[in-house]
Amino acid sequence: MKTYSTDTSKTLFERAVRVIPAGIPGHVGPVNSQFIPVSAFPYYADRVKDSYFWDLDGNRYIDYMCAYGPNVLGYNNDLVDKAAADQRKKGDCMALPGKVQVELAELLVDTIEIADWAFFMKNGGDATNFAVMIARAATGREKVIRVEQGYHGVAPWMQSYGAAGVTGADVSCNLMVPWNDLKAAERVLEENPGQVAAFISTPYQHGVFGDNSLPAEGYWRGIRALCDKHGVVLIIDDVRCGFRLDLAGSAAYFGFKPDLSCYCKALANGYNISAVVGVDSLKAAAASVFYTGSYWHSAVPMAAAIATIKRLKELDGAKMMIEKGKKLTQGLVAAGKKHGIDMKISGVPSMFYMRITNDDSLMMHQRFCAECVKRGVFFVSHHNHFINCSLSDEDIAHTLEVADEAFKVVAELNG
Ligand SMILES: Cc1ncc(COP(=O)(O)O)c(C=O)c1O
Repeated sequence: MKTYSTDTSKTLFERAVRVIPAGIPGHVGPVNSQFIPVSAFPYYADRVKDSYFWDLDGNRYIDYMCAYGPNVLGYNNDLVDKAAADQRKKGDCMALPGKVQVELAELLVDTIEIADWAFFMKNGGDATNFAVMIARAATGREKVIRVEQGYHGVAPWMQSYGAAGVTGADVSCNLMVPWNDLKAAERVLEENPGQVAAFISTPYQHGVFGDNSLPAEGYWRGIRALCDKHGVVLIIDDVRCGFRLDLAGSAAYFGFKPDLSCYCKALANGYNISAVVGVDSLKAAAASVFYTGSYWHSAVPMAAAIATIKRLKELDGAKMMIEKGKKLTQGLVAAGKKHGIDMKISGVPSMFYMRITNDDSLMMHQRFCAECVKRGVFFVSHHNHFINCSLSDEDIAHTLEVADEAFKVVAELNG
């Protein structure tokens, strides 16, 4: 199998570092990303369609990062793009919201189990920040219980003390507990009586650089009971999992009911929108918080979100992505075995995390991902991957052919 050259990306990056801090800031650039070794990875995408992106050198990749989640139906989905284009002809950023804002809120209320209302913004971090503000407004309390390694965005309170630009005051209200540890949550609540506004967590632990971890039996039931007992608002950050586990919400998938849920990535198949949905008893608190932005009422992403959710419903999209993820990951495990390599899969299959266990240094795993990328299958080393509905059986079969060759290279190097 021919391996790719990505020289054009690298040349553009040399221009970028002169005029953009870090060249490509954040998690999609070579500085802070999972691109190890960076030489194997393209840095820029030229175009996308369905399950693929093409880099600046014209190489095609089967994309298992799905833009880190937003690509849920397939890139440039015709139905979603038509709904967006029709709305664009009428208006996008206007002095007043469009009718689609109400229609989208109604659709979310009909779709997500706990939703009695919905409120829109742009990024996942806007949603998690708003949810915490609502909890504070509702309870008159300041502290927030967070789960260690849980990612909720980049506002200072969501980062760690010691991170660049973050002060002690920014994180002073955070109370950290380990994932899946009911006793620790109970202890923290008892040590801070009447002071905790919210418990915020992702539905399961899908952190980076470690196997992902599902909730233990009874964990969410226990957290719900503790929140009820102590008058704490339970916030689920469904920004990453949302619509990939269950259209009714990832909490419904795991069988519990939060008070607020945050959505973003898969909401509009790549159009820029996020949302907080919540229960009736928090509606007045949500209305009391001053929270808005220049583009938050834009109508095009709302039309795109409506089309995305309707299509996901028709396809039974979450179930479909879980099935495709199972097929792919079972194939990856079998392909590894053939070469004496143990590929461990964790998390929900539509958002699988993978790790080669033969080598604790993780270099063997990094090499495997890099060999796949050089042959047109875009995996990153230490982040969960994403399945989208347009991923075909042929894509999965081709991925497994590439993986077979990558496993062979890695096995020979380590043999
Ligand atoms: C679970 C979770 N919460 C919040 C965020 C922040 O979303 P955004 O980057 O859109 O602000 C992310 C982004 O990756 C996320 O995965």
